[in-house]
Amino acid sequence: HLPPAVRARTAAVEVAWTIDSTNSELLRRPLAEGAGGTATVLLAERQTGGRGRRGREWASPLAAHLYLSLSRGFAGGLSRLGGLSLVAGIATVEALHGLGFVGARLKWPNDIVVSGGDGMRKLGGLLVEGGGEHAGPVRAVIGLGLNVRMPDGFASRIDQPWCDLCGLSLDGSPPLSSRNALAAAVIEHWVEALDEFDAVGLAPFLPRYQALDALAGCQVDVVGPQERWSGVVLGLAEDGALRLRLDDGSERGFHAGEVSVRRT
Ligand code: BTN
Repeated sequence: HLPPAVRARTAAVEVAWTIDSTNSELLRRPLAEGAGGTATVLLAERQTGGRGRRGREWASPLAAHLYLSLSRGFAGGLSRLGGLSLVAGIATVEALHGLGFVGARLKWPNDIVVSGGDGMRKLGGLLVEGGGEHAGPVRAVIGLGLNVRMPDGFASRIDQPWCDLCGLSLDGSPPLSSRNALAAAVIEHWVEALDEFDAVGLAPFLPRYQALDALAGCQVDVVGPQERWSGVVLGLAEDGALRLRLDDGSERGFHAGEVSVRRT
């Protein structure tokens, strides 16, 4: 399903029947291509140890959802990794819009959500992992879990409001032709966006993020390990930090990894 230009930027696209975690598997492999190289993509039909942010489980039942990871090198040092989950999130939501799921939005820093009368429901999430040197090349593994059709009995394992693409189709979005078509659309958008990010950084993505921001103008609580702040979301800073007008009138930026955000 991939166009030739995207294939040329992709070293391999593999599908595993069952694996612990597509992120873990790519992290176990050496990055053969080096910084700025092509991408390696791994999909799985099922994960036995799917991982979410903050060490949470990512329930990954057989042939139900999309479990996809991409490994790639980036030039420019560790600070480049910060914007990656935003860039991959933007590319994912733009791919979903291209397939007709126009209600998909981003909830900073790594959630794909749909907002409705009953609030915000999580459609998927991103987990970016990797490392390298401060100045040298870095290696990132970007993982995406996207709900396609939640099997009976699994909903009880999810501790927050959720939705899936089949449910959105029942609510008026067009039907999804196949998980393969979904995977191809996501890979295509990721490969293009990651090339652009590697070449020029986060700046061109900020207005694209703004158009997809589910939190813009919302009153939120930002929760850190020791503290909690309350305020209105102003948008993103140049480095991808979440900017808030706090209830005391001051402005403050928050970085992903330090905090989580709850709409109030
Ligand atoms: C989150 O919202 O907490 C992020 C979830 C990321 C899940 C995906 S599924 C594919 C890849 N492999 C994993 O173990 N996790 C990511």
